[in-house]
This record gives sequence, C-alpha cells and structure tokens, in this order.
Amino acid sequence: MASAFDPRRQGAPEPLAAPRLAVTRLLLANFRSYAQGELLTSGRPVVLAGPNGAGKTNVLDAISLLSPGKGLRGAKLGDHIRKGPQVSEGALWTVAATVARGSESYEIGTGLALGAEGGERRLVHLNGVAAQNSADLGEVVQMLWLTPAMDRLFIESAAGRRRFLDRLVLGFEPGHARRTLRYEHAMRERARLLKYGPRDPAWLDGLEAEMAETGIDMTGARVATIARLNAALATREAAGVFPCAQLSLAGEMAPLAEGDRDAAITSLKSMLAGARITDAQVRRTTIGPHLCDLAVRHTEKRMDARDCSTGEQKALLISIVLADAWELAQARDGYAPLLLLDEVAAHLDARRREALFEEILALRAQAWMTGTDLSLFEHLHARTDIFSVNAGEFARQE
Ligand SMILES: Nc1ncnc2c1ncn2[C@@H]1O[C@H](COP(=O)(O)OP(=O)(O)OP(=O)(O)O)[C@@H](O)[C@H]1O
Ligand SMILES: [Mg+2]
Repeated sequence: MASAFDPRRQGAPEPLAAPRLAVTRLLLANFRSYAQGELLTSGRPVVLAGPNGAGKTNVLDAISLLSPGKGLRGAKLGDHIRKGPQVSEGALWTVAATVARGSESYEIGTGLALGAEGGERRLVHLNGVAAQNSADLGEVVQMLWLTPAMDRLFIESAAGRRRFLDRLVLGFEPGHARRTLRYEHAMRERARLLKYGPRDPAWLDGLEAEMAETGIDMTGARVATIARLNAALATREAAGVFPCAQLSLAGEMAPLAEGDRDAAITSLKSMLAGARITDAQVRRTTIGPHLCDLAVRHTEKRMDARDCSTGEQKALLISIVLADAWELAQARDGYAPLLLLDEVAAHLDARRREALFEEILALRAQAWMTGTDLSLFEHLHARTDIFSVNAGEFARQE
C-alpha cells in the first residue's frame, strides 16, 4: 500500500459508541492523483489538511461517487483516470468504501472499466452484487456537498441550482435518481426521433407519456423537498449565525406542480406534443422539468440570493445544507447525511466557523472537511479524525 497511513502499524481507530452514517474505510486505486490510497476513520468528522494540489478535493470527489450521479466535480468518468503509471491492470479507476450505518455495514464499490466493445463502462457494486447503475446507491448513503465552485451557484446558469436541488431531493426520495434517468432517457429518444425519424406519432406519444409522468413526479418531489426545507429553515431563524433562506421552484413547471397529478401529467403531455415542431427545429427539448430553476431568497434582507454578497451567498448555502441535514436525520432514524465541505472553513470568520463545527457535532454527521491550514480546525481537535494529505499520501495526526 502506497499510503503512509498503515492501519496495522498505527492501529485502526476506535469505532464510536453513537451510531452514525459514516465512511469507515476508503480505498482508492488509479483515481486522479492517487495510485493507491487507503483511509480508515472512526466515523467522527474528518479533517483533510494539506497544501494546494495535495489531493484533498480528490478524496471528496471519490466519496461523492459513492452516491448517484457524477460526483461533486460533475466530471466525465474518464477524467478520474490517473494520469501517470497505473498500479495494476483491471479497472481504469476504483473507489471502494465500507459505509457504516449504526451496526449495519455496507461495502460499496464503483469504478470505470473497459467494456467488451472497448468502450468505458461504469461499475457499481453494493455488498458484492453488481447494481444496474449508480442510482441504487441513493438508498444506502445520503450525502450533500459544498465546494468552492458552488460560490457562484446563484449567479451562474440554472443547471447548477437544479443539480443542487436534486441532491437535496435525493436524500428524502432515493427513487428520484432512477426517475430522472427514465425521464432523460425518454427525452433523448424523443429528440432522436424528431431529428432522424420516423416521426411516428404513436411512438412519440409513448415517449411523451413517459416524460410527462416521470416529469411531473420529479417536479412533485422537488416541490415537496422545498416545502420541507422551508419549514426547517423557518425554525432556524432564531439560531442567527447563518441566515434564513426561503426556497421556491422557478420556471414553467412550477404552476404544474400545484394542481392534481393526473391533470398535470395530461397537461405536460399535451405541451410536449405541441412543442414537437419547435423542438425539432431548435434541436432541444424546450419544455419540461429538465429546465426548472431553484430560486432562493435571503429572508431577513428580503433579497434574492443572486443579489447578496459572496459571503452572504455562501452563508445561505450553508444554512440550506444544515437545515437539510437536520431534516434528513429526522427522516432517517437519526442518521445525518455525510457532508463533504471543501474549503468551507477558510471562508468563514471564527464565529461562523465554530457555529458550523458545533452544528456538525450536534448532528453527529460525518463531515469531510478540507483546508490548507490545520489551525482552522483547532476548535474541533480531539473530536475529529485528522489526516494530513501530501502528494497523494495520508498521515493520521494524533
Ligand atoms: N486524472 C488525474 N491524474 C493525475 N493527477 C490528477 C488528475 N486529476 C487531477 N490531478 C491532480 O491531483 C492533484 C490534487 O488535486 P486536488 O484538487 O485534490 O488538490 P487539493 O488538495 O484539493 O488542492 P487545493 O488546496 O488547491 O484545492 C492536482 O495536482 C491535480 O493536478
Ligand atoms: Mg481542493
């Protein structure tokens, strides 16, 4: 094992008495800057400290691939392949983990392999059994993340806000991932038929029926999550350190989410049928839940998030993530989601940093926090697993 942290030499960390959802073992192979790496944790929050380029975000990215989707960088799966000598033949990259949920434990593995026809194929294993795709992972491990790239979430295009919202939805409704895949599949098929034909109305009807049904349910799940979070955020107001936010669904789909489900499905189906000519001309699908947006308001300032300062926007995001984590813990027998907080501590003043740490501890969430400077995490010492990361090697700090 190339990792500087050898569990046999240093002793595996004592497991915690209080039950948590936590990655207790993480194995990386051929993953970005890691030829091979292994981390063993106690289940407490984890601090990864090290200089720029040490490989901290790569660890968070690896963990994020243990949930549905493309992970926190949203990168192409091939981008994770280590540029440099590969450690062994077989998978192009692998991330494997033991995830503890109280007394239960799950073995999760994911990676990229070469398929029979030479193409690349994502592999997902859950307790040794191959899963059809990463959507199945949402049932096992819930996680949320905040990254420096999300500092511009409220300013940039709706796609990022939609991904953020869908990650929040996934915690409450793991089936959201599978439903979204079905919707997208039908949407691609419809686009293909509109482009290349045959423009068989019955075939298009079938695809639009599938899009309408999954699309309205996707929208319903988004609206339900927003309602839950608004209720949770309203009770946070007293806490004060992080601002109160109010969320709403924006875009053409929002009105459809309010009425009766069957009527909404019929309505979306006819909107899709009515958009065939336009969609064929512009070569994209011009209506549907794949275009919705998340609007966020800073309640006290009565201002849209996009008009708030950079620091205020970050604080709003933290509020939403914390409110969601509390709500999820309540919905899931007390198990808070994993929190992947990339460089979050560095951007907060000492008061907010400590408030965030205290809340993470109170949640009993395994937060994975990165920073270039260990002193940022002083408040947490002795209550976390601390690793220094350097050139793809981990060393546990006592
Ligand atoms: N596919 C890859 N193969 C090899 N190395 C890679 C690959 N992708 C990224 N890297 C390298 O991994 C290194 C660590 O990146 P990472 O983003 O994890 O650093 P970091 O510790 O988070 O740094 P910072 O503090 O600047 O955010 C970088 O030097 C990057 O160039
Ligand atoms: Mg980084």
